[in-house]
Order: sequence, then C-alpha cells, then structure tokens
Amino acid sequence: MNKVGVTELGYIGFEVSDLDAWQAFATQVLGVEYVAGTHDASIRMDYWHRRIALHRGASDDLRYMGFRLSGPEDFWAMQGQLNALGVRFEIASAVEAEERHVLELLRLEDPAGLPVELFHGPQVDRHAPFHPARAMHGKFVLGAGGMGHMIIRERGVAASERFYREALGMRGSIEARMNMMGSQIAPMFMHCNARGHSVAFGIPGFSKRVQHFMIEADSLDDVGLTYELAKAHKVPILMGIGRHQNDNMVSFYMQTPSGFFCEYGWGGTPALEQSEYNPRGDSWGHEMLDPSLLG
Ligand SMILES: [Fe+2]
Repeated sequence: MNKVGVTELGYIGFEVSDLDAWQAFATQVLGVEYVAGTHDASIRMDYWHRRIALHRGASDDLRYMGFRLSGPEDFWAMQGQLNALGVRFEIASAVEAEERHVLELLRLEDPAGLPVELFHGPQVDRHAPFHPARAMHGKFVLGAGGMGHMIIRERGVAASERFYREALGMRGSIEARMNMMGSQIAPMFMHCNARGHSVAFGIPGFSKRVQHFMIEADSLDDVGLTYELAKAHKVPILMGIGRHQNDNMVSFYMQTPSGFFCEYGWGGTPALEQSEYNPRGDSWGHEMLDPSLLG
C-alpha cells in the first residue's frame, strides 16, 4: 500500500477566554478578517470559510489542528494506514463535519495528547473574497502551503516524530540547532508541502499545547506595519524582527491574548528537498526582547 500523507495544515481551533481581546488583536494588529459568532468567532485569511476558529473557553490553548487530505480516496486510505499502525481514531458524524465546514472528518490524538483532525473538502467561499480588517500592503500566503505552521508540545520527540512521519506521512529533520535561554536545542521540523514546515516540536519551556503559530504575508512591508501596530497597541513582543535560516522567514514574535505567541512573517522559502542543518537557527536578528513572557 502506498503511503498516504496530509497535504496541508488547513485550520486551527483555539479555546480563548477573552474573545473581545482576540477581536481587537485580530482586527487591529494581525489584519485578518474577523467574523463574530454567538459563542465563537472565525478568522479568515483567504477564500476558505475560516482558517482559525476561536471557541470561548477557559484553557487559552490549542483545541484542535486540522490537516487536509486531498480527497475521499486518501481519506479512506488514511484509515487503513492508521489501522495498520495501530493508531486509534474515530470518524466524526456528518453534523460534526459540518461544524468544521468540511465534507468528512476523522479525529485522533498525537502522542502528546494534542487533538488532531484529518479532513477533506474544506468549504471554500469564492463568492466572499477575503477582506482584511485593516489596510495591508499585500495579502496572506496560503494556497498550496496551507495556512502556516505551529510549534507544538511533545512528550518525547521520537514519539511525535514517528506519528507525524509514519501516520500522517510528513517529512523532515532537525534543520537547526539553536541556543535558547542558554541551552542547546534541536527542534524537529516536519513538512508536507511547499511550506518550510507545517509543525515543529522539541522546543522546551512552555506548558501549553502550542508555543506559537505562524502566518505569512507576501510583502515585507506587512511585517514592518504589523510590528509597528503591535507596539502601538501595546502587544507584548517576545522577539524582534529577524530571519530564520531553515525556512528563511523574516518575522517577529508577539504574544496573543491567550498567552501563546504568533509569529508574523514574510519571505519563507520552500521545504528542503534534501536535509541540511545550521548551528545558529537565525541568519540575523530575532533578539529576545522579553524572556519573562515565556513564563
Ligand atoms: Fe515559527
């Protein structure tokens, strides 16, 4: 049997305690489109119905991450692959799939207990073009590379690596050894399409399920503008503007109203066809401005 693989990080769900603060952050700083619901809200970044779902709740953490499969054939084949590996999953009902605005959905957990959803057939609203909440120089970079990436918790890098590589069909390697808060770390970066990485793990020092999520604009000026807006709105900035060496992203890191971070970037280059690593992590910049935010 040919191996089946996910094709993109399609959507994320967060549970947030302060929807009003998220609305202000999303519309005034990030510039994404914010669609308010009764107990939740949707963030749009392109034609998709939504890319981030915000659910009102106490945890201020990741609630689920949705990885796309290309269609029903891979949705069925993935079930066989998971069964062969002894990975337990459950098929969501039609009503639950509709809640996520996808045709079909299955649910499982990664080895660190993070809720993972695999779906095909996202709702794409081509009748409703993306409308940024504030002026942007360019637009967000999604398309074949998915919505961005996330740095997630693990309970043993090897177990998570096996899951994302063998069960979900991703590829990747260490890519960077970097110094973080005085210790050497070697995160595992996993990709499933042209984006440099869709998930990475092996970064210590955070208790939530997610350390940061990354969204990318196609204009460097949007990174500069967002940085200025973050400062103007007194959003805590963890790391200043800099450039990573593995995906070449020019970015900075700010704290979301839920405590975890958002990396806002530009200039990412495609996933490595052949593995390499660098010993510094960054080409330049990414100065740690406020380590106290790491908790
Ligand atoms: Fe990142």
